[in-house]
This record gives sequence, C-alpha cells and structure tokens, in this order.
Amino acid sequence: MTKTLLRALRGEPVWPPPVWLMRQAGRYLPEYRAVRASVPDFIALCTTPALAAEVTLQPIRRFGFDAAILFSDILILPWALGQGLEYREGEGPVLPAIRDEATFRRLDRARLAERTAPVMEAVRQVRSGLVREGFGTTALIGFAGAPFTVACYMIEGAGSRDFTATRTLAWQNPSLFDRIIELLTETTVSYLAAQVAAGAESLMLFDSWAGVLAPSQFRRYVIEPTRRIVAALREQFPDLLVIGFPRMAGLSIAAYAHETGVNAVGLDTAMDLTQVLPLLPHSVAAQGNLDPLVVVSGGSAMTEETIAILAAMRGRPCIFNLGHGIVPQTPPEHVAALIELVRAS
Ligand code: CP3
Repeated sequence: MTKTLLRALRGEPVWPPPVWLMRQAGRYLPEYRAVRASVPDFIALCTTPALAAEVTLQPIRRFGFDAAILFSDILILPWALGQGLEYREGEGPVLPAIRDEATFRRLDRARLAERTAPVMEAVRQVRSGLVREGFGTTALIGFAGAPFTVACYMIEGAGSRDFTATRTLAWQNPSLFDRIIELLTETTVSYLAAQVAAGAESLMLFDSWAGVLAPSQFRRYVIEPTRRIVAALREQFPDLLVIGFPRMAGLSIAAYAHETGVNAVGLDTAMDLTQVLPLLPHSVAAQGNLDPLVVVSGGSAMTEETIAILAAMRGRPCIFNLGHGIVPQTPPEHVAALIELVRAS
C-alpha cells in the first residue's frame, strides 16, 4: 500500500500524479452545506472535532482524492492567541486590527495548546476514519497559514485586495512587524508540531499574499520565516514533508524553492509551467496549477488546460492541484471528470 502523495513529496516522479484540490471540502458540496447549517458559525465547525473530521472526509468519499486536508482555517491560530475572530456571511473574516504595541501585547500564547486541542482531536479522528473507511492510500495533510499571510489578516482586520495597512506598517514600524512575524513563526512551529504528533503525515504552509511584497521583504517575511519553521519542525521530525505555497510569488518562487527546505512548492494559476519548472530544484515537487474557474466551466477548456499541465509536469516529482482554492459555484460533476482525466494520464 503506497501513498502516492508522500512518494511525490519525497522526490519521486510518480505517474499518474497524486491529485487533491485546495478547499476540496467546502460549499460546492451539498453534504458540506448540510453540516455547515447544523452549527451556529464557522469557528464552531472548526473546533468540533467530529464535525471537522466529517467534512474533511466528505470529498474523499465522493472523489477518492490521494490526500485529505484537515478541515480548519489559517485564522484559527490568531483566534487561539486570543485575537477576536468572526466570519461574516458574504464578508469573510473580521478581526480587531493590530496596528500598535498595545494591541500586539494583548495576544496571549499561553493558551494556544488548550484552545487548539480540538484541532488535534480532529486530526486523530481523520486518521482513524481514513483507515476505517478503507482509504488506506490517502495521505493526511495538516496546515497553517504562513506568518506573513496570517499577519495580513491580523493587521488589516479583514480580507483585502492589497493589504495596504499591513504593508505600510511593515515599512513604517519594522521592529513591531518583525515581532509579529517572530511570534507567528514560533507559535506556528508549536501548532504544526502538535498536528504531526496527532497524525498529520505532511504539512502545507499557505502564504496566499506573499506576492504583494517587495523583493527585500519577500526574503525577510516569506523565505526566512518559512525556512525557520521547516528547520525547527525537522529538529523534532527529521523526515517531515512540507508543501509551501507562496501565492503570486512570481520569479521569487525559485529562491523560495531553493532556500526554505520545503519538499514541494504550490504554483498559482498565473505560473507558466514551461518557464517556471526549469527554475526549481529537481528534488522539489511541483504542485498545481489549474485555474479554479475553468473547473466551473468544465468541458473541453478544462480538458485542454489539464492535459497541458500534465504534459509540462511529466517526468518530475509533481502533484496535480488547482492554482488556488476551488470556488463554491463549482459543479461537483466537473471535479469527478477532472480526477478521471488526471488518473487516465
Ligand atoms: O478543504 C480545505 O482546503 C481545508 C480547509 C481550509 C479552509 N480555509 C476552509 C474554509 C483551508 C486550507 C483554508 C485556508 C485559508 N483560509 C486561506 C489560505 C488559502 C487561500 O484560500 O488563499 C485563507 C487566506 C483563509 C482565510 C479565510 N477563511 C477567508 C478569506 C475566508 C472567507 C472566504 C470564503 O471563502 O468564504 C475563510 C472562510 C473559510 N475557510 C471557508 C472554508 C470552507 C468558508 C466559510 C463557510 O463555509 O462558511
């Protein structure tokens, strides 16, 4: 019994490639919407282990993906550090913005383990559920937001197109910004180490907003914290497999892939594989990068785009995925057709 995801992450050019989709558990699935409607809010879903485990397993039952990704959210970490968090319908996450020393000092890491205990219980329940339900070749991915992207939401206090307040603070008060990144780097190490101890077989770091930074800041706030997180985790778990996703990194993806120690890089939709893949080390797996919106449309466009991605990746370690998360309006039948296409390659 082999888990193809783990083999690809170890640098093997597995073919056909393992396939899973970012946000594969979520609102495009009627069975997710039913569970979601049974709880008062999204945080309750993330912190009720039986429900988080159930929605993690839903897309595996329906599609038989090669990886299950823990159902949670990158903002559970700031929530566990005591920053308020609310998900508003149609608006996304809202947090009390941290813009100065005083608001930063209110964060409290003392209760991190206690407040994230339900997440670890969900990890244990997914691992046992995968075995119990016969998905012995599906690997479990744990995850966290990378420090810069989590800082974006903590400082901005909400989602944003360009995170102006966050980027301004980074230039105006680098010492405070460094301390925010430092706190997130250290707490992310503990949070992810606990996920591995609970049964996560690989980890993914989502740096969704890495691409808004100037090159010098990309080094300081994306590459360096990621390198430190990977190194600290490997001290505890020497064989740990990590996927890094610095979205919209552009050409900086090459330095990220060479310097952070990750086993795979997630490539966003805009990456031209024929140009980008030659810049990556041979041993680093490439994950991506189908446009989530072509899966909404389906049909021949989806087929052609998928075939082109597969052709570009063939022969190197790779994982088939989207270039960003699946969107709620995606027809589940298109996902089924997509997986069939990848498996038939
Ligand atoms: O299936 C999976 O991929 C696992 C679960 C997962 C969620 N969020 C569930 C979720 C993962 C890995 C994430 C990561 C995440 N969360 C990121 C990084 C990836 C990316 O998309 O760039 C970010 C930036 C967040 C922050 C976040 N969470 C936002 C901006 C929103 C609101 C936008 C939206 O889609 O509604 C969320 C809420 C959220 N996280 C939902 C889900 C399924 C929707 C909430 C609901 O079901 O009511």
